[in-house]
Amino acid sequence: MGFPVDRPATWFVTGTSRGLGLEVVKQLLARGDNVAATTRSTERLLAALGEGVDTTRLLPLAVDLRDEAAVGQAVARTAERFGGLDVVVNNAGYGFLAAVEETTDRDVRAMLDVQVVGVWNVLRAALPVLREQRGGHVVNVSSVLGLTAVPGWGLYCAGKFALEGLSEALAAEVADFGVGVTIVEPGYFRTDFLTRDSLALPAATTDAYPAIREMTANHLQLQGSQLGDPVRGAERIIANVVEGGGPLRQLLGSDSHAYATAKVDALRANLDAAAATAPATDFPAA
Ligand SMILES: NC(=O)c1ccc[n+]([C@@H]2O[C@H](COP(=O)([O-])OP(=O)(O)OC[C@H]3O[C@@H](n4cnc5c(N)ncnc54)[C@H](OP(=O)(O)O)[C@@H]3O)[C@@H](O)[C@H]2O)c1
Repeated sequence: MGFPVDRPATWFVTGTSRGLGLEVVKQLLARGDNVAATTRSTERLLAALGEGVDTTRLLPLAVDLRDEAAVGQAVARTAERFGGLDVVVNNAGYGFLAAVEETTDRDVRAMLDVQVVGVWNVLRAALPVLREQRGGHVVNVSSVLGLTAVPGWGLYCAGKFALEGLSEALAAEVADFGVGVTIVEPGYFRTDFLTRDSLALPAATTDAYPAIREMTANHLQLQGSQLGDPVRGAERIIANVVEGGGPLRQLLGSDSHAYATAKVDALRANLDAAAATAPATDFPAA
């Protein structure tokens, strides 16, 4: 089963009151598709959509993504209201800027709860529906920082690397059921991501990492001048699904492409350097 062309498709999108998620919801409603939009605040979502948007096909859902039962109910309500489910977009996420040793146990669990456990909750609820109908698409919004890591972004990268790992495995697991998977890897996008409403900072810092403090200050100042346009980003994410899904990874932004290329080059050099030594731990051939 490919993307439906004879009826509105039904999408389940997480993290929708701001940024990319909000823009995806707006564009899907404008297409005439059905949208279940999860958020921590339906009031904020409805206010952000504004008066001019036709919300007849919108199901706003206040969901704590960390709560498996609540996520299960949200997916069930979606299928019930719209008579099915076609596309899941795991978009919710936030940044956290600190050195690894400044990151508390609570910070780690909070991040992984949203970026990994929450995604897993959605997948556990949605995959049986997609698998049984033998069709559908999962879009997991990662980051180019799901491929490459930089100082000060350790926790965010840990979450996105985990998301990439589960997504790669998932893509191979569900391909035979006709279910597609896309990992979206944006570069810097001009959303609310780098505002203090979204970006989290550590409760306490040491004075051992002045470069990370400087990087944090620079990033807060970057707000409003990021290269990526969320309207174009949402358009590309939707078009990729509608057109049947491209390669596993969808890079968004020339900055993303450049960072990813540098990572692949460094990894290639590392693999070449290890080629002679890696076999040294093999059991000798009998
Ligand atoms: N903007 C960038 O530069 C950039 C780059 C690479 C990747 N990304 C990724 O793109 C996705 C969308 O981010 P964005 O740029 O649109 O940022 P944004 O404007 O800050 O929006 C983030 C969305 O994620 C949800 N969210 C944030 N913290 C959450 C939490 N603790 N629990 C549950 N939901 C939470 C929010 O949903 P509600 O408030 O509605 O609940 C919000 O709508 C994220 O996964 C982000 O990591 C962004």
